[in-house]
Amino acid sequence: MDTIECIKTRRCKRELGSGDVKKEIIENIIDCGRLAPTANNLQPCEFVVVTDRKKLLIISEIVGKNAPFLKDAAFCIIIFAKDVKYYLEDGCAATENILLAINNFHLSACWVAGAQKEYAFNVAKELNVPAGLKLISIIPVGYSNEQPNIQKRKLGEVIHYEKF
Ligand SMILES: Cc1cc2nc3c(=O)[nH]c(=O)nc-3n(C[C@H](O)[C@H](O)[C@H](O)COP(=O)(O)O)c2cc1C
Repeated sequence: MDTIECIKTRRCKRELGSGDVKKEIIENIIDCGRLAPTANNLQPCEFVVVTDRKKLLIISEIVGKNAPFLKDAAFCIIIFAKDVKYYLEDGCAATENILLAINNFHLSACWVAGAQKEYAFNVAKELNVPAGLKLISIIPVGYSNEQPNIQKRKLGEVIHYEKF
């Protein structure tokens, strides 16, 4: 898929179906997260992949109303980052790279909040994540035919030439 098409067709989808996804594809998706830009090239992100259905259910229960669809996903990527100055920006860049890679492989996903959420500690604990790492985002991935009708602000409304 062409890069511009990949960016413009990406949507968060919440009707996710399970099904086999080849390890090669999962690793290619994570690789795109690994390659995202990071401040001072510190590369603070760690990526946990959950494919086990029982574990998906447990994470879904911990996350609760933010992502009831998580339990139906084919797998889930949970991004953590070391507590460096720009951990949030670095983690978000990795998250977006991953969402685009998922779209490229004709899979679907939703960005689920991580940083600042009350469930962050319990998600990290469940996944055996060392203390000090920050939860950035949770990305349930699956197959979907959903066509979300999401409204976006128009280009003319957000673009400002030379001054605001
Ligand atoms: C930082 C962040 C946190 C989000 N958290 C959630 C969430 O917890 N649950 C959810 O269903 N969607 C979540 N979303 C997805 C947004 O609702 C979605 O991106 C927005 O509605 C725009 O839709 P689009 O991604 O299809 O462009 C989150 C998105 C971002 C960027």
